[in-house]
Amino acid sequence: MTIDELIKAGEYHPGPIGVFDSGYGGLTVLRSLRAALPDADFIYLGDNARAPYGNRSFDLVYHFTLEAVRYLFACGCQLVILACNTASAKALRTIQQRDLPALAPDRRVLGVIRPTAETVGTLTKSGAVGLVGTPGTVSSHSYDIELAKLHPTLRFYSHACPMWVPLVENLEAEGEGADYFVKRDISALLSQDADIDTLILGCTHYPLLINKIRQYLPSHVRVVPQGDIVAASLLNYLRRHPEMDARITQGGGTTYITTEEPDKFSALARVFMGAPVEARRAYTLSEI
Ligand code: DGL
Repeated sequence: MTIDELIKAGEYHPGPIGVFDSGYGGLTVLRSLRAALPDADFIYLGDNARAPYGNRSFDLVYHFTLEAVRYLFACGCQLVILACNTASAKALRTIQQRDLPALAPDRRVLGVIRPTAETVGTLTKSGAVGLVGTPGTVSSHSYDIELAKLHPTLRFYSHACPMWVPLVENLEAEGEGADYFVKRDISALLSQDADIDTLILGCTHYPLLINKIRQYLPSHVRVVPQGDIVAASLLNYLRRHPEMDARITQGGGTTYITTEEPDKFSALARVFMGAPVEARRAYTLSEI
């Protein structure tokens, strides 16, 4: 429907852009989205009470993600970004194809994997690309599938890093324990092909480990975080879909919602966002 048709049908209800992550990681994407769309309103939802998602089963990640999408729709969001690779890998396709047509056919849910896959193919010179991600993202093979479609000549290697998200969520990203796991996992990835020259950080938590990641990577390997890629892709999407652009409220505000303790969330989110944050609590997502 065009925006005029929505208004005539009494169905024009603009709302903020919803940004969902299992915990804090999606704030690295929100920061880029905020910078790219300074006038848009955003709602960030972190399911901190149930994070991490990365080691959970396909079914559970799908159910939690669908609950989060329904919650954000109930908050008025017309567009939701799954700023979580694990949720994008395990839930996005089913939500887009099966749930959305019944739930809210005019609303949209977008993920982070396709825009990232589109971009990395243009960055590598050697043609060998590596991915670090959660066990869920790596075992879903979502990146392999997208890259094979978009850049069929690339050589692609992945390695699951089950300890990286717990290190970030427990504020240990700068600690010595992080050195052990980052060094071990980076060398396991690079041992698959010495020509890897591009590394996808396929988890929104990983930019918080970027100093340690760089420390254990050869200097010529390019590290690709996702925030700016996802922001550029969203700008492009909104240019191509003015009817969705017109359904985003433009107050420049951000609401933060967490399923865990809001004071803890606010303190950490302040570090991510570089500005004061006052989070609110959602005691449960499932009753919406
Ligand atoms: N930050 C999420 C991702 O991008 C997942 C973290 C987790 O909950 O395991 O994959």
